[in-house]
Amino acid sequence: MGKAKPIHKALIAFAAAAIAIAVAGCSPQEPAAEKPAEQGGGSDSAVQVAWSPDMDCATCHATEGATMEDGSMGACIHVQEAQTTCISCHADEAALADVHKEATATDTMPKKLKATVVDAASCQAAGCHDLSADEMLACTATITDLTDSQGTQVNPHEVMGLTDGHADILCSDCHNMHKAEVNAADTCVSCHHAGVYECNTCH
Ligand code: HEC
Ligand code: HEC
Ligand code: HEC
Ligand code: HEC
Ligand code: HEC
Repeated sequence: MGKAKPIHKALIAFAAAAIAIAVAGCSPQEPAAEKPAEQGGGSDSAVQVAWSPDMDCATCHATEGATMEDGSMGACIHVQEAQTTCISCHADEAALADVHKEATATDTMPKKLKATVVDAASCQAAGCHDLSADEMLACTATITDLTDSQGTQVNPHEVMGLTDGHADILCSDCHNMHKAEVNAADTCVSCHHAGVYECNTCH
């Protein structure tokens, strides 16, 4: 459980870099150079296309596509600061090709990830947030949002490594990409239902 540590140089460098590239605008995903080959699709069935990583994803995933241009969304911030495309984050091409085998533009689009994950390793890939554990801690050393009713304070970037009970927590639990940012403290309540950052003390 972290006491506040002095702000780290890495954060200052990060902030400077963010300002430097904040001038880049949010632009929609580049349309695919070629139209993907159509498969099947009789006159009375929806058109099915072979999935490829360089197709225009937003024609079907309009909701997520819109977040690439909405400055309040994590996805757009990644477009601005790192020229991110859909597949920079959704990188599991084999699983995605499989998921899209039967997909058509008229299907109901998914509201959450089921077959794939954007895990910590994806966020911390080389050239992305490839910071050491100490640098990650320094990044949020001054954040006091995670303070429970007994005054126990936790550094948000300490939570994922805390104990086995936190093994399934993802970066995106606190950092949504296609939805409004959540309050980090709200992500604890599902398990720490009594507002205390401990278990096995009351029952
Ligand atoms: C022809 C329409 C269409 C296009 C184009 C398309 N998708 Fe999809 N996508 C779907 C449908 C439909 C599903 C839901 C499939 C299912 O659950 O059976 C889906 C599911 C997904 C999922 C959820 C996977 C999971 O974990 O459950 C992701 C992520 C995704 N698509 C990303 C992409 C990306 C990235 C692209 C562009 C490279 C893309 N899609 C292009 C229709 C499309
Ligand atoms: C998926 C359930 C879950 C979520 C979400 C969760 N915790 Fe926990 N937490 C646990 C469990 C279970 C324990 C008891 C230790 C164990 O079994 O891992 C625990 C223990 C702790 C402890 C005590 C660790 C220790 O050394 O004993 C702290 C501090 C803590 N959690 C903080 C947080 C904070 C802060 C959040 C929100 C950002 C959070 N947890 C979210 C399940 C969760
Ligand atoms: C328990 C919640 C939580 C988890 C899990 C979490 N973060 Fe954070 N993170 C925060 C908070 C709170 C901040 C400070 C406020 C902000 O910038 O959103 C922050 C800040 C950041 C920043 C600096 C953003 C900025 O605007 O300066 C980066 C980069 C970051 N987190 C990346 C990650 C990555 C990568 C992971 C997964 C390895 C992760 N975070 C996991 C809560 C979390
Ligand atoms: C910066 C990383 C990032 C980028 C860029 C990104 N995604 Fe996502 N995507 C995520 C994460 C993380 C989730 C999990 C839910 C969340 O955080 O909002 C997700 C969830 C999804 C889902 C599940 C439904 C949902 O909204 O939760 C689909 C479908 C999807 N993304 C498609 C796309 C498409 C299509 C693009 C490009 C137009 C795209 N994503 C760009 C990280 C990204
Ligand atoms: C401050 C005290 C306190 C702490 C700390 C606490 N709980 Fe509880 N918990 C309670 C109370 C009170 C109940 C209600 C007990 C009852 O109704 O019998 C309860 C009920 C539950 C139940 C439902 C049990 C049932 O039989 O219906 C679960 C599951 C649970 N807690 C899990 C957890 C987990 C996991 C943690 C740690 C992440 C935790 N609790 C931390 C006080 C606490």
